[in-house]
Amino acid sequence: MYRSHTNGELRIEHVNQEVSLSGWVQKSRDLGGMTFVDLRDRYGITQLAFNEEINSSLSDSARKLGREFVIQIKGTVKERSSKNKNIATGEIEIEVTELIVLNESKTPPFTIEDKTDGGDELRMKYRYLDLRRNPVKENLMLRHKIGLATRNYMNNLDFLEIETPFLIKSTPEGARDFVVPSRMNEGQFYALPQSPQTFKQLLMVSGYDRYFQIVKCFRDEDLRADRQPEFTQIDCEMAFVEQEDILQTFEGLIQYLFSEVLKVTLPDVKRMTYVDAMKNYGSDKPDIRFDMKFKYLTELVKGKDFKIFDEAEEIIAINVEGGNKLTRKEIDKITDYVKTPQVGAKGLIYCRVNEDGTLKSSVDKFYNQDELAKWVSTCDSKPGDLIFLLSGDTIKAQSQMNDLRLHMGTMMELRDGKTFAPLWVLDFPLLEWDEDSNRFHAMHHPFTSPKKEDFDLLESDPGKVRANAYDLVINGVEIGGGSIRIHDRDIQSRMFDLLGFTKEEAEAQFGFLMSAFEYGAPPHGGIAFGFDRICSIFGGSESIRDYIAFPKNNSGRDVMIDAPANVDDAQLDELGLKLDISLEK
Ligand code: AMO
Repeated sequence: MYRSHTNGELRIEHVNQEVSLSGWVQKSRDLGGMTFVDLRDRYGITQLAFNEEINSSLSDSARKLGREFVIQIKGTVKERSSKNKNIATGEIEIEVTELIVLNESKTPPFTIEDKTDGGDELRMKYRYLDLRRNPVKENLMLRHKIGLATRNYMNNLDFLEIETPFLIKSTPEGARDFVVPSRMNEGQFYALPQSPQTFKQLLMVSGYDRYFQIVKCFRDEDLRADRQPEFTQIDCEMAFVEQEDILQTFEGLIQYLFSEVLKVTLPDVKRMTYVDAMKNYGSDKPDIRFDMKFKYLTELVKGKDFKIFDEAEEIIAINVEGGNKLTRKEIDKITDYVKTPQVGAKGLIYCRVNEDGTLKSSVDKFYNQDELAKWVSTCDSKPGDLIFLLSGDTIKAQSQMNDLRLHMGTMMELRDGKTFAPLWVLDFPLLEWDEDSNRFHAMHHPFTSPKKEDFDLLESDPGKVRANAYDLVINGVEIGGGSIRIHDRDIQSRMFDLLGFTKEEAEAQFGFLMSAFEYGAPPHGGIAFGFDRICSIFGGSESIRDYIAFPKNNSGRDVMIDAPANVDDAQLDELGLKLDISLEK
């Protein structure tokens, strides 16, 4: 028997018991007569004591133990003379009577401590060592708990977890597909699913009216802190439901997860239309932990000979409460920030609202105190506040102001990781115009149903049609999105028309779905949550990588196994790919 207990288990009540333990050497301290070794496993740390006077050869062996050696010991549980209140086993230690080295270890390339000396790249290369560290382990435990609670909630509501295939045909979800060559069908490719979208809809046609799946999805898109090429969704679909049923069911899921896993009562999920979100926050995923809504000063500031404003389509302001305490230097830094390429503003105008009521703007040449006073009243500013203005084309100015608003929210410490502000964003547009391809794209995906009341606009003004689509946003992160689907063959076919598919293309790509709609498709709808993103919101880290056991880096590489990599010629040959590639060269 390797162990009678784990290293997180023994307490004062076990004193005098004979135990055996196994684990990794966290560290050892040689104090002359006594040698202490911290033995670690995923459950905790237990102190081992080797007394030179009791057994000198055992003490000698203990001194030779290196960091991360795997050992097994037998011994007696003793009360410690100096107790360590910081660890659960801190009241006891083991007086060791037998020591076996199960495996030696090279010195690890970084310390296996909560605060390690290893950089990102090194920790990724040796991810199996990084995973031994407490913070990473706790993240994976959090992920496990969220997954388990999800399954409980869904199971209690009669949802069935059903697996769908990974080797499929491409589903247009907006990103590029990862493709897999087929050996048995030379020259043809599978695509890895960007989501199980079409399959879950087919399951509704089959009568599995409540489906869910915790499932890997694959998207070949540019990576960021909240995006991985393979990520996990909590994917859900229901039949015989309207939008309101979905919103309530899945608000319930999120509230349940918060209360089960974090012991936090989530506030009611607010609701906002897409149009309002864009107007007030310049984003379809606003962080509503703080207010700082946009004010439109366009009419107010034009016609005063300030060329930049006169030429702008829109002039947008935000009021930063207490912002007047920012120094000139700090405001210059903020100006530099909005001018960075990722924000892209040309400049930033400000107006200080001094404690004595006087106003000081960076455009005093053009605006007198009376005029500035109108800015102040439009922005509801108080003495001690600071107003920022950005101008330009409406869409660009909104997007830049969104970046500035979030930046100021962080600077003024309004984005506290322990506050959660959930929000449904509703009534997304059905379509968005794509300048590059000169045609409409589905904003969510082509299976999303238009709102009944906007049906007539489908012909006359498609860009104005709203969809039965919704996103769940928490603290400015889109954690889920879904829609009520089209379940009628003719409407689906009209939708493909609108998106610029020819009849043949639509038939070739989605004939299977449209055929299924002819065999009794029930009204249905659903949603998918980004599981990794939920974990990162719960855990309070910006990066979803911290919650994935073996993540990819920002170039989509797994630096530990060194993938992607070349395959040998014979393998390419078998797939019928070799010839094409050499011809290409
Ligand atoms: P959508 O494309 O909005 O919808 O995806 C659902 C949720 O998945 C998460 N997500 C990601 N997480 C990590 N890395 C990525 N690359 C990534 N891409 C998306 C987001 C997002 O809200 N089939 C539809 C759902 C439906 O209509 O039911 C879908 O996939 O949190």
